[in-house]
Amino acid sequence: MKSFLNVSDLGDLNKALEEALEIKKDRYKYAELGRHKTALLVFFNNSLRTRLSTQKAAQNLGMNVIVLDVNAGAWKLETERGVVMDGDKSEHLLEAIPVMASYCDVIGIRSFAGLKDRDYDYAETVYEQFVKYSGKPVFAMETATVHPLQAFADLITIEEHKSCRRPKVVLTWAPHPKSLPQAVPNSFAQWMNAADVDFVITHPKGYELDPKFAGEARVEYDQMKAFEGADFIYAKNWSCPGVTCPEKYGLILEDYHDMLDWTVSQRQMAVTHGGKFMHCLPVRRNMIVTDDVIEGADSLVIPEAANREISATVVLKRILESL
Ligand code: CP
Repeated sequence: MKSFLNVSDLGDLNKALEEALEIKKDRYKYAELGRHKTALLVFFNNSLRTRLSTQKAAQNLGMNVIVLDVNAGAWKLETERGVVMDGDKSEHLLEAIPVMASYCDVIGIRSFAGLKDRDYDYAETVYEQFVKYSGKPVFAMETATVHPLQAFADLITIEEHKSCRRPKVVLTWAPHPKSLPQAVPNSFAQWMNAADVDFVITHPKGYELDPKFAGEARVEYDQMKAFEGADFIYAKNWSCPGVTCPEKYGLILEDYHDMLDWTVSQRQMAVTHGGKFMHCLPVRRNMIVTDDVIEGADSLVIPEAANREISATVVLKRILESL
């Protein structure tokens, strides 16, 4: 595997799930695979879970790990070609990438969407530059449009906690005071479409996800109706993806104070089928979800985060096997 962005990069999803559950039983089973191999994890944005779980996964496989926080101690990087570099950015990504690549065997990238230029973000410009100029396998640790390590961990969590063969899984938009990227909902939708689940997306009008990720998934604009009979509720905020209104890409469409009835609470959970609550974290309480729901017995947010180590171990293992 030379690049990990999309669910299709893993091949047979059932096999990947089996491998994940096998690794979860013995996470050091492949501890020799990464001997004398180095993973470089490059963060253009903040992280808690991705940073720790991906480092742990690399260590499970016996790898050396280097972490670079681009905005804390490194030279500020210019990412666009043709720019006269007379500002605060001292180094261009096109020199920095091959230099970074010379110290490692595998590169993980976290680089969020700028939410200003839809074409730039949806072309995965920064990630693809690493693919093109590093000559090394590259994997997404949340890029402009996707967060596949999260979606894989989410799928593992659903597999472990489902009580019927084909559960109903609902992705619900929830309010947030800041403009957030679509990477998590994009990947969650893409992975749920590939999995054997009954998948429904609910959000206010204007937040339609890009069809590249939403596929044929049913969209239900009435959140209460969407929640009826659901086995899993996956909450997330995202800004306008600009599908039906390109000029509004990256914007919050209504004042969040007017959208608080979308906050996931016992009112909505009461119509589910004993629904389990999921969120990728970090989460803003009483904005995305109420305290009682996230703290309740049906909240999966902690096991979901713990499964990030497992999804990253599978992905790094597949990459190491392809070197
Ligand atoms: N869910 C997730 O990616 O968390 P971090 O932003 O803390 O890495």
